[in-house]
Amino acid sequence: MTISNILIIGAGSVGSFSAAVMARKQLGTVYLYDKIENLSIGRAMDINQASPYLYTDTRVKGCNSLDEVPEADIVVITAGHARHAGMTRLDLLKSNISVMDELGERISRHYRDAKVLIVTNPVDVLAWYMKKKWPGMNIFGLGCSLDTMRFRYFIAEAVQGSVDCSRGIVIGMHNDTMVPLVNHATVGGVPIRHILSESKIEKIVRKTRLAGTVITQKLKEHSGFYAASHVVTQIVESIVFNRLGTFPLSVYCSGEYGYNDICLSLPSVVGQDGINRVLEIDLDDEERKALDNCASVIKEVENTF
Ligand code: 2OP
Repeated sequence: MTISNILIIGAGSVGSFSAAVMARKQLGTVYLYDKIENLSIGRAMDINQASPYLYTDTRVKGCNSLDEVPEADIVVITAGHARHAGMTRLDLLKSNISVMDELGERISRHYRDAKVLIVTNPVDVLAWYMKKKWPGMNIFGLGCSLDTMRFRYFIAEAVQGSVDCSRGIVIGMHNDTMVPLVNHATVGGVPIRHILSESKIEKIVRKTRLAGTVITQKLKEHSGFYAASHVVTQIVESIVFNRLGTFPLSVYCSGEYGYNDICLSLPSVVGQDGINRVLEIDLDDEERKALDNCASVIKEVENTF
């Protein structure tokens, strides 16, 4: 089996913790780059010095320049500004667009065949922006994958059961308008509507929507990174091993669910070529309305370009 080259751009909390989790899982050669001099070098040293404890010889290579990374099969973009308390993810748009402008040309020219996973917020809008500006790029965004993990966690918490048995998906947009698909959520194969009261379900939905905001309120000048890094790693793992796992990623729509020219978080099967296919789920009227609402929020932002 060939070893994958994984390039993580941005050695902040999500980037460096993702590098650590990927190294632990031995997903390939992990390059960690940051434009702040020596940040990624220091992070890589710290991660690598844990390797005797982790019983893995995988090394993370910290880089001060992308010239040190000749090839990449997978590029994960975490660079950019993160939310502080009181900010929405859309508040980051202006500053993070300029980060994308700095990186896009380079990625599209030097890592032409790479699968590019964007994590930087507002993720759905930035995925669309990159795809429009560099149409040849095989790019998709983290979308509602983190929200899906949180949804599953809150379901398990409500039924006081294992997360292994709680299944569910959140689609739409990675902001407060996201759509946790309650009708499709199960515990051990049993629909949660059969197990939990309406008020408990409403509480799960509310907690899922606000989870990122609540963490940011507590951390003040940072946002969450631990869960995000694990879900990023899961997606990269699905690409590296062609696992064909399903994640609600920000995908550029050309007719999927009836939408065009927006990136929306939709259930996507992910393998060695990136997004293999988007799964169509039957939505009821309320879910469709909520998804339409996400699409209009995204469209409105896109129209400002
Ligand atoms: C979150 O939801 C930072 O958007 C990220 O935690």
